[in-house]
Amino acid sequence: MNADFLIHQELETPIPIMVEEELTWKEPVQRVQALAEKGLKEVPPSYIRPVSERPFLDKQIHLGDDGSIPVIDFSGLEDHRREDTMDQISRACEEWGFFQLINHCVPVPVMDRTVAAAREFFDLPLEEKQVYANKPWSLVGYGSRIGVTEGAILDWGDYFLHYLWPLDKRDVDQEWPRKPASYVETLDEYTHALHNLCSRLLEALSESLGLRKDYIGEIFGWPDTNLVLRINYYPPCPSPDLTLGVGSHSDGGVITFLLHDNVPGLQVRKGDRWLLLEPIPNAIVVNIADQLQILSNGRFKSVEHRVAVNKDTVRMSLATFCNPDVDTIIAPAEDLVNDDNPVLYRAMTYGEFLESLCRDGLKGKDYVESFRR
Ligand code: OGA
Ligand code: NI
Repeated sequence: MNADFLIHQELETPIPIMVEEELTWKEPVQRVQALAEKGLKEVPPSYIRPVSERPFLDKQIHLGDDGSIPVIDFSGLEDHRREDTMDQISRACEEWGFFQLINHCVPVPVMDRTVAAAREFFDLPLEEKQVYANKPWSLVGYGSRIGVTEGAILDWGDYFLHYLWPLDKRDVDQEWPRKPASYVETLDEYTHALHNLCSRLLEALSESLGLRKDYIGEIFGWPDTNLVLRINYYPPCPSPDLTLGVGSHSDGGVITFLLHDNVPGLQVRKGDRWLLLEPIPNAIVVNIADQLQILSNGRFKSVEHRVAVNKDTVRMSLATFCNPDVDTIIAPAEDLVNDDNPVLYRAMTYGEFLESLCRDGLKGKDYVESFRR
């Protein structure tokens, strides 16, 4: 938590928010992939988490009294199952903040090609990836840490971040990997399929809150709402019980879509427990992020999650964050506020949300809660 949350929230909108004296890396940036390839027997101290944050791999709960992360068949919205499917979506957003979506219309071959293209990029020699090394003030590019705090506990993973959407913000020539040769075409195909899914899902979420179906989209600037891709590469780790691939955080934007390579690792908070998401092949993992929690006046939950890594296996995931522009004003929807449901959060811009987060360095879910009135 602490620095992690701050760091991670920032990455959801790669805007320059650091002050002048922080604009240089204060420590050399170490690629975790290169570190792991050296065949270390022990995790270097900078990656070791305090006991309270460790993933307790032997005690991970798959299925418990709490049930497991809901699986929703999106095709149910198109037929007689519509009402039931809407119910499932509402419950998942209210009780879990997470669900796995199946029959979502993103073609499986497109998903497979997307994960494969990302993997091919990370399989390139280090020097070829270094060309894209990101700067402390921009998260776009090849990165291994976010933030410049000396002595921060680091995540056991590298990432590559770039815009997918809108077209005028994505810089294919400068910011997207040039290898593999198929990368641009593949990711473009994925972007269009995901944009379409996001569009339909935002409508369903609006309806499930009892709002006009365009409501959420309009607030967040759809169809030009930013889609930002973060490819995560979690190398094998000699002591996965001591570290995390990504520390506990909630996502700062509207909603997040996650593709992965079917290797377990994502843990989702349920009360005071962490549940391991059991990968379902070809499903897309969806989670509610902070701005939807605010817009829904707390009815939908933006839930903390984190990533455990594995001893012998690489894990890869591709998170696409749907984020508003920094000048978007966000407040609980008026129709959701009444005597029984008093307004919980004050209005603010998304930029303000990010800024005070950086200034105050609040942690975990305390942050979104700080906008409570
Ligand atoms: C993220 C994230 C989860 C994963 O990038 O925000 O939570 O499984 N990733 O990699
Ligand atoms: Ni996340």
